[in-house]
Amino acid sequence: MQATSAPLNTSEEAGRMAKTETLLSPRFYTTDFAAMDRLDVSPLRKEWDAMLAEYEGDNNHDHFQRTPEFAVEVAERFSQVSPELRQEFIDFLVSSLTSEFSGCILYNEIQKNVTNPDIKTLMRYMARDESRHAGFINQSLKDFGMGIDMGDLKRTKAYKYFKPKYIFYATYLSEKIGYARYITIYRELERHPEKRFHPIFRWFERWCNDEFRHGESFALIMRAQPHLLRGGNLLWIRFFLLAVYATMYVRDHTRPQLKAAMGLDPTAYDYKVFDITNKITEQVFPISLDIANPKLRAGFAKLFEAQTGMDAAKARGGLMGKLGQAKWAAVGAFTFVRLYMLPVNRHALPAQIRMAPAW
Ligand SMILES: [Fe+2]
Ligand SMILES: [Fe+2]
Repeated sequence: MQATSAPLNTSEEAGRMAKTETLLSPRFYTTDFAAMDRLDVSPLRKEWDAMLAEYEGDNNHDHFQRTPEFAVEVAERFSQVSPELRQEFIDFLVSSLTSEFSGCILYNEIQKNVTNPDIKTLMRYMARDESRHAGFINQSLKDFGMGIDMGDLKRTKAYKYFKPKYIFYATYLSEKIGYARYITIYRELERHPEKRFHPIFRWFERWCNDEFRHGESFALIMRAQPHLLRGGNLLWIRFFLLAVYATMYVRDHTRPQLKAAMGLDPTAYDYKVFDITNKITEQVFPISLDIANPKLRAGFAKLFEAQTGMDAAKARGGLMGKLGQAKWAAVGAFTFVRLYMLPVNRHALPAQIRMAPAW
């Protein structure tokens, strides 16, 4: 993990981290544009048009601008934090920027490569939002002299091909979990402003409403193609739920200082985020992970242990390091399969598809 192994001090190092491909790092995606072009959202025309009207209204058009107090707060409060927290926060900014920019590139590429007006318009609006989000984070990295060259990142980071349905499952989940993460942090710091060590968190409330709406867009796309939400596809939904939750759990636990500084316990925070995400995803997924199951909780803890063991083995190097890495990779894979086999919650899909960001 970058947070524990390689300190980030320069733009080049931040750029390198953004391009690193690990199991846990955010990725860039490409997809089948012709299949995207054939999507038909007409079964949900009314909901679709209402949603596009919200995008067009653009209630966050003036939100991603820094106020004069921003720099003052950075100078007064962030300069006080420990080097460990500073490092974890920068790691958080780099990985958040990479995720935001990943959405921006994907939505923009789809927009450029389709003629279907429904999909083209939606993708243009979502790319607009993600570009603002990534740019806003980059300004904070620039404060530390660590701004990321996004043009270079776009040209040189590896792209992974995902079929459209995998894009829908994965992106829907990452938008909704992104909402749940940002709103949970925002609410906590609203109660404890003395713990808000950086001003960027004050932007999270209106920011996460964008993410919520992006998730709604994929919810409508999936509900308009109901075959994506039944039969063998449930096995894929289960896979993506587990992969996204497990990745978040492991990543958050490798950044303990960041959560501690906000007065949050990483485990309690993660299960709160999972709980919100479970409640939201019932709008499209007929299954959800049973996050109350002690076996699931033990499995997630085991995955973190495997990641920590893997990092230690990598740092050790040599033959013993190699053997250690193989062992922990096997433990991780075995634990993931066991988690996948656990029973899931099942529910009927609601008639009313769209929901409000009520958290
Ligand atoms: Fe975003
Ligand atoms: Fe988003």
